[in-house]
Amino acid sequence: MAENFETALIAYARKVEAKLEVLLPFLAGNRLQDAMRYAALSEGKRLRPFFVLASAKLHGVSEPRALTVAAALEMIHCYSLVHDDLPAMDNDNLRRGRATTHKKFDEATAILAGDALLTFAFEVLAEAGESSVLIAALARAAGPRGMAGGQMLDIEAETKGFASLNDISKMQRQKTGALFEFACTAGPMMAGEDVTAMHDYAENIGLAFQIADDILDVESTSTALGKATQKDSTQGKATFVDFFGLDGAKQEASRLVENAKAALVTYEASVEMLREAADFMIARRK
Ligand code: IPE
Ligand code: IPE
Ligand code: MG
Ligand code: MG
Ligand code: MG
Repeated sequence: MAENFETALIAYARKVEAKLEVLLPFLAGNRLQDAMRYAALSEGKRLRPFFVLASAKLHGVSEPRALTVAAALEMIHCYSLVHDDLPAMDNDNLRRGRATTHKKFDEATAILAGDALLTFAFEVLAEAGESSVLIAALARAAGPRGMAGGQMLDIEAETKGFASLNDISKMQRQKTGALFEFACTAGPMMAGEDVTAMHDYAENIGLAFQIADDILDVESTSTALGKATQKDSTQGKATFVDFFGLDGAKQEASRLVENAKAALVTYEASVEMLREAADFMIARRK
């Protein structure tokens, strides 16, 4: 029988947390290492690791191998959150239901913990003997044409605004989509198989995920989300909600989820869990 998505998400999250626990350095009294662990071992949904593990399973890649990749990707995601929350960026005090890393420690420590999580992720992958193809793909997803580039566009839009839907899509694809794309294609990549279907799936769920994040910013509460809400409009962020309105954004997100599911038709194996995962991208309440 096909595995249920919500059960699998929790089971995979616990496994990736155990992996992070082992991988992250822990020297008593080391401030940088304390901050890295604080940022990475908080209560995240662990969605990107889920997609690494699920796509790996679909392509017959062993779970231990995939777990290392999933943990490395989560380190990069956590670094992106630490820096995203800094006063110079979104200036947030709450993340995953507790103080942001710069509030718990200080700004310099948070900047360095982010830097260290990013570089440590690559150290872990290289030492595990992961292929240069996979390592390059992760670097691309995190770098100037991926997450970091998208974050720049997000910040620039606060003052410049965005002319078109195309600009907003480009920014979202980079800042959020790129890490999801890596996550979903990691399985076929590790197996040396065709990534096309998972790439199409990822493009759609990545965008749907960020639209849902922007909707939750408007409709949810900081207690439910574990982070501040009502921030995008006060900070002048360019979002799909801004462009389409709430109802339009919801319709667009649903359309993307259906596209994502359609991308899975090439698989003969059961993809029920990935279909449910696509639904979760916009049905989620946090
Ligand atoms: C938040 O990502 C940052 C965005 C890209 C919108 P998640 O909603 O996956 O955050 P965690 O990892 O569960 O805290
Ligand atoms: C952040 O987008 C995307 C990242 C690359 C971290 P947001 O700024 O909307 O994420 P939240 O709402 O703070 O989690
Ligand atoms: Mg931001
Ligand atoms: Mg933010
Ligand atoms: Mg947001």
